[in-house]
Amino acid sequence: METAYARFRDERTGHVADYIPALAKADPDAFGICAAGTGGESFAVGDADVPFSIQSVSKPFVFALVCEALGAAEAAERLGVDATGMPFNSVMALELDADRATNPLVNSGAIATTSLVPGATVEERWDRLRAGLSRFAGRALAMDDDVYASEAATNLRNVGIAHLLRGYSRLFSDPDEAVDVYTRQCSLLVTARDLAIMGATLAGGGVQPVTGEQVISPDTCRRVLAVMATAGLYERSGSWLYDVGLPGKSGVSGGIVTVSPGKGAVAVWSPPLDAAGNSVRGQLATRFLSERLGLNLF
Ligand code: DON
Repeated sequence: METAYARFRDERTGHVADYIPALAKADPDAFGICAAGTGGESFAVGDADVPFSIQSVSKPFVFALVCEALGAAEAAERLGVDATGMPFNSVMALELDADRATNPLVNSGAIATTSLVPGATVEERWDRLRAGLSRFAGRALAMDDDVYASEAATNLRNVGIAHLLRGYSRLFSDPDEAVDVYTRQCSLLVTARDLAIMGATLAGGGVQPVTGEQVISPDTCRRVLAVMATAGLYERSGSWLYDVGLPGKSGVSGGIVTVSPGKGAVAVWSPPLDAAGNSVRGQLATRFLSERLGLNLF
C-alpha cells in the first residue's frame, strides 16, 4: 500500500468534479488508501481518515437495504440490474430500455432505489437509510450540509430524471421527496477507512467486521456484488473488471471501494476524476493492489 501511495501520489491527470459547486473546493492532492479485512483489521496510508461526501459510493449500500426489505427478486424486477454502458446521469439509458429500467448504481436507478426505502414519511425513510448506512460503517454517519445545499440547489437533472421515472411508474414515492432523500444520502460524510470497512462487510457475507453485526444477508451481498461488478464504474465497468477483476463502486467526490469476496475491501479517496467520473488515482492504486495482492477473481 505504501508503494502504491508513493507511485501514484504525483499523478497529475484528472479534474475535481465541479458540477456540484461545493465539490470544486476539494483538494486535488488529497489521497488516501485503506484496506480492511473481514476479521476487522485495517491498514491505511495517506488521507485515509479525512472525511468527504460519499456520493455514488452510497448506491450499492442503499440497494442492499432495499434488497433486504423487498427481497432480491422484487428489487431486481422494480429497478433492473443490467449495465447501461452509459454515463451515470444518462437520460438516454432510461429511454432506450424497453422497460425503462436501468440499475441501482446509476442516478436513475439509484433515485428509484432510494424511493423504495421503507417508511411512512420522508423523514422515516431518511432515518432508516442513514441508520442502515451507519450500520455498515459501524458509526453514526453525518451529512455535509454544505455539499447537500450545493447539490440541492443545482440538481435539476436528477429532478428531471425522477419525474420521468415517475411518469413511467418506475419511481415508488413522490419524485421531489425521492431526490431530496437521495441528495442527503450522497452528502453523508465518510472516510476511506469507513468505505473499506463498509466494503469488508460486503466481503464477509454481511457481517460488519468491527461491530460483528449481521447487517445484511449473504444472499443480498452476492446480489450487490454482482451489480457492482457489472455497473460499478459506469461506462468503464468492463475495462475495470478486465484490469482489476473485482467488484467496485466509484463516486464523484473521488472515492472508490473495491471488494475482494471472502477477504476484505480496499478503498481509495482522491478527488481528481477521469471523463467518466471515476477517481484517477483511485483506479491506478486499486489496479496496482489487485495485481500485487493477487486479488483478481478470474
Ligand atoms: O447525483 C449525482 O450526480 C451525485 N450526487 C452522485 C454522482 C456520482 O457520484 C457519480 N459518480 N461517479
